[in-house]
Amino acid sequence: MALLEGKVAVITGAGRGLGEAYARLFAAEGAAVVINDIGRSADGMWLADEVAESIRAGGGKAAAHTGDISDVAIGAGLIDFARAQFCGVDILVNNAGILRDKSLLKMEEADWDLVQKVNLKSMYAVTRPALAAMKEAGKGGVIVNTSSVSGIVGNFGQANYAASKAGVWGFSHVLALEGAKFGVRVWTLAPAAVSALTAGLMSEDMCAQLAPEHVAQVALYMVSGLSGQRTGHTIFASGQGIRELKLLPSPGIRGGGSGTPVTARALAEAEEQLYYPAPALTIMDFSK
Ligand SMILES: NC(=O)c1ccc[n+]([C@@H]2O[C@H](COP(=O)([O-])OP(=O)(O)OC[C@H]3O[C@@H](n4cnc5c(N)ncnc54)[C@H](O)[C@@H]3O)[C@@H](O)[C@H]2O)c1
Repeated sequence: MALLEGKVAVITGAGRGLGEAYARLFAAEGAAVVINDIGRSADGMWLADEVAESIRAGGGKAAAHTGDISDVAIGAGLIDFARAQFCGVDILVNNAGILRDKSLLKMEEADWDLVQKVNLKSMYAVTRPALAAMKEAGKGGVIVNTSSVSGIVGNFGQANYAASKAGVWGFSHVLALEGAKFGVRVWTLAPAAVSALTAGLMSEDMCAQLAPEHVAQVALYMVSGLSGQRTGHTIFASGQGIRELKLLPSPGIRGGGSGTPVTARALAEAEEQLYYPAPALTIMDFSK
């Protein structure tokens, strides 16, 4: 049985890459999909139109939206469009994102601002009207927010991108708490997949291992009934492996309370409790 029969899914940045893979899989599982993307192909066609047309040609339900999701009025317009086309919104995947990589000393203000606007302000611009629509419909819903390993542990040359993606991570935790009041489940997805930019640099085998279709199956698990009532989790997903990412506290040192503070010297002597032991695994390493 199709997993998303009768559901309406809005996916931002779905004209190519990961978003396109989610849209094609969700449509194949019975969802009506709204493909948002601001991009155009080399011959000037809207990427969103191309993907929506191809899904419809295969018998699926799809509509294209070509607005910039970092604009508050356009974000609201996207949700209105979904409701007008398919009578509701059950699933939102906040996927659109951009990079403007430079080390901090070379980074211009515009590189910083644009990345925050597209990657982080879009969370407000699209999610707020989507949550309001889900609350009004009273049927719950699922929202997936796209973060990145870069935002969680850092990556050289990505101060702007990492800050925006760490922002998504924080946003998502709060949304999980607030969405629970309305039966809206929330996930954070930290994907790794071959992109339009990196495909040409990789071997065929590597491209297959990191195909967006691997991540799409994880997104489908998140938005379908397969994940039950789960909410608030962060999942790293790639063709090489899938795992939850969670912040773990170290054993810590009991504070001085109203008495004597734990001194700086005492801290230096208790480093075993202060710091978390070096992890046996790194996020993307599935060799062990
Ligand atoms: N590919 C990876 O390995 C990887 C790793 C970590 C995180 N991510 C995140 O996953 C998401 C998808 O990445 P991808 O690799 O498929 O990227 P991609 O560049 O192939 O696709 C992103 C799409 O978003 C669209 N877009 C950009 N700005 C937009 C805007 N303002 N409004 C509407 N659409 C807009 C682009 O036109 C593009 O089609 C991004 O948020 C990215 O940061 C990807």
